[in-house]
Amino acid sequence: MYTAFSKTGNIKEDDRAFIEACRLYIEDAHSVFGHISNLSNIAALIYDYLDDINWAGFYLFDGEKLVLGPFQGEPACTRILLTRGVCGAAAREKKTLVVEDVEKFPGHIACSSASKSELVVPLLLDGNLLGVIDIDSPSVGRFSDREARLIEELSSFVSHSLANDWVLNYHLN
Ligand code: SME
Repeated sequence: MYTAFSKTGNIKEDDRAFIEACRLYIEDAHSVFGHISNLSNIAALIYDYLDDINWAGFYLFDGEKLVLGPFQGEPACTRILLTRGVCGAAAREKKTLVVEDVEKFPGHIACSSASKSELVVPLLLDGNLLGVIDIDSPSVGRFSDREARLIEELSSFVSHSLANDWVLNYHLN
């Protein structure tokens, strides 16, 4: 049974506990269904752990565009070209984007009018794009270096967990 995080108030300790919990929830996938389960739980863990957010989830790269994956929050756009939005920019540039105010980001895709700031971290494997982790907040300036580094650490082992799956990585071959 899952017990929600009881935070100690020590951000470093709490972040470690979050990362360890995420590691525990990555099971051997065996099939694409197993990956869907893993990513679903990771989205739920992010949503539970980070305060003041209204969306957390995955977009997966199919070799051409980003396709909506497991997430928590309101329904979202299902396809994002790499030329569009914060997600597309992070995927194209293969780098983390912290957007303080989405209204000032040219081309931002407003899936929800409630979202005011955004953090997008690419999922990379040996420099190849697998997708992105996207997190939205209803507050301007919600995300700092702390969240960026934390989600980059998460992204690194999530990417490795996807490494050997022929369905998710077929476009890399
Ligand atoms: N705002 C994103 C689109 C995805 S939603 O936030 C869930 C973007 O500009 O790429």
